[in-house]
Amino acid sequence: MNASEKKVVRLGSVRKTFGDLTALDGVSLEIREGEAVAVMGPSGSGKSTLLNMVAGLDRPASGKVEVDGEDISGMGEAALARFRRRRIGMVFQFFNLLDDLPALENVALAGRLVGVPARKARARALELLDELGIADRGDAYPAVLSGGERQRVGVARALMNRPALLLADEPTGALDSATGEQVIDLLLDLNRKGQTLLLVTHDERLAARCATRLIEFRDGGIVGETARERSEPWIAR
Ligand SMILES: Nc1ncnc2c1ncn2[C@@H]1O[C@H](COP(=O)(O)OP(=O)(O)OP(=O)(O)O)[C@@H](O)[C@H]1O
Ligand SMILES: [Mg+2]
Repeated sequence: MNASEKKVVRLGSVRKTFGDLTALDGVSLEIREGEAVAVMGPSGSGKSTLLNMVAGLDRPASGKVEVDGEDISGMGEAALARFRRRRIGMVFQFFNLLDDLPALENVALAGRLVGVPARKARARALELLDELGIADRGDAYPAVLSGGERQRVGVARALMNRPALLLADEPTGALDSATGEQVIDLLLDLNRKGQTLLLVTHDERLAARCATRLIEFRDGGIVGETARERSEPWIAR
């Protein structure tokens, strides 16, 4: 495992409630740089809520959220948005691409939003699309892309600003199994190159192939945890 001792995520007793409902019941979790952590558990157990906390998309009722060494639970809205754009990449089940922008511009926009000049952002976006095998689809609008292509664009966008942490909520959830497999390969490859991953998934194959640690979630809390060797041999690059 290529994990270092640096902590990319540190949650301390994070609680989150929605009215009477306790979605996160005092969750503590640390993720080291280079890990690929998969969170699995029943529907409604709080997995997406957990991811939203780490992404700074939602705030805890109590507890501490540290990402890439910064306490984000105390940040103001503007600082938090800036932090999220620069340091966190997010991949979604339904891609969340902008329909009226071509693939390349969807990716480049993530750079533009943190102040990267247009030409540089496009060059980086093209490089990413190329790495993900869809350079020839840069001018295509999301509507004409296949599900797998859309998710590749989603991953490219998430990687645009070289995030300390890549979050994914059911990244294969809307894909057929062959296409899902390609996205799994892609995430695995990224982690092997050192990208820290936090995945939420119902997809056993994704967890089995990608994760270096499995976390079982239930009723707003961690009920089990397994560090594991990945099933496949290390491929030297
Ligand atoms: N914005 C919200 N307002 C009220 N309740 C919410 C909100 N978001 C989530 N919840 C509730 O919090 C609980 C945890 O939801 P969450 O979306 O985190 O579950 P999940 O584990 O991601 O489920 P799934 O596997 O179905 O995606 C659920 O009972 C849900 O109804
Ligand atoms: Mg969810």
